[in-house]
Amino acid sequence: MTETTPPVIVVEGLRKVFRATRRDPGIRAAFRSLVAPRREQIVAVEDVSFSVQPGEILGYLGPNGAGKSTTIKMLTGVLVPTAGRARVLGLEPYRDRTRNATQIGVVFGQRTQMWWDLPAVESFLILRHMYQVPDGIYRETIDELDEYLELSSFWKAPVRQLSLGQRMRADLAAAMIHRPPVLFLDEPTVGMDVVGKERIRLLLAHLARERGTTILLTTHDLGDVQRLCKRVLIIDHGRAIYEGGLQALAELEGAHRRLEVRFAEEVAAPAIDGADLEQVNAVTAAYRFPANRNPQEILAPLAARYPVADLTVESPDFEEIIRLIYERKREAPESASSAASAETADVKAETATADAEAKAARGARGPRGRSG
Ligand SMILES: Nc1ncnc2c1ncn2[C@@H]1O[C@H](COP(=O)(O)OP(=O)(O)O)[C@@H](O)[C@H]1O
Ligand SMILES: [Mg+2]
Repeated sequence: MTETTPPVIVVEGLRKVFRATRRDPGIRAAFRSLVAPRREQIVAVEDVSFSVQPGEILGYLGPNGAGKSTTIKMLTGVLVPTAGRARVLGLEPYRDRTRNATQIGVVFGQRTQMWWDLPAVESFLILRHMYQVPDGIYRETIDELDEYLELSSFWKAPVRQLSLGQRMRADLAAAMIHRPPVLFLDEPTVGMDVVGKERIRLLLAHLARERGTTILLTTHDLGDVQRLCKRVLIIDHGRAIYEGGLQALAELEGAHRRLEVRFAEEVAAPAIDGADLEQVNAVTAAYRFPANRNPQEILAPLAARYPVADLTVESPDFEEIIRLIYERKREAPESASSAASAETADVKAETATADAEAKAARGARGPRGRSG
């Protein structure tokens, strides 16, 4: 990824305003709205700019209603921007909707795009014909997708009978039948179990790395982000409020992480230095510690003193991070832009970590195992 490669996705000053008619409850209001409808503007996306390099996975994050899905709809040609520009591999999505469709894959985790009554494998065949994928390539693609997503165990059942996780995996596969160089994934892991999430993460890491697939990923799972994204863009109320590495964010002064421990036997008041004991319950305890501290410094003395059976360290809370970003901006409004560029220095260091992690993850993946 060099400076000279043109970005795959370019968004400049993108804006989307919805016009909605608001009606107060009650019959009077109903009549009034017929005579003089009260129009209301909802600014869903306001002056958002970013670009995504080939083979990059950009985390596009933000709370509910922030404008993430609206952005993705503009990038996939479903919605026309009110102002600004979006380009995907040189095409303007809403003008070139059909051509754009051949180069992108889209998944909206909240709803399926497959034929409800058909087995997933039939949907794949229809898509294969729609996109005119040659037989050999189709088989290769399906084999690869099956290897990562384990589809063949359920792909003969009608989609309506699938579990949420299975359906989501099938949806992802359906979006990739034509091997698109660009993927827009809007909460593809929502409501999935740990194993399902892991399969998806491995596939996405593989595609970005081995095939240079460019991915815009929206998720509420900071685990997805930590594993896959070197860079994130956070939007809130339609506006970009942060762009940079995730590590730098997690280490913001004031952010906390949670440590949950299960002990092999009951222990009394298991205190450790540098962490607040939040909760104790027979053989479990929860601690809160500053996110910029090395978890090792907390874990080592804990494990040395108590019989630890199992533990998990959670990512910093997303809402807390957003609050801290605003606080930092309020404290130093002028330096907001310089702070943003200082962030890029961290990205390099993190890139190395993310690469190493991806490598480890690939190594951890066993041969295709139907059994488990
Ligand atoms: N078709 C629509 N008409 C009116 N308002 C909409 C429409 N779609 C989204 N919105 C509003 O735009 C804002 C952003 O929505 P959305 O892009 O779905 O957010 P996110 O995906 O980040 O949760 C929200 O306030 C939402 O209610
Ligand atoms: Mg959404």
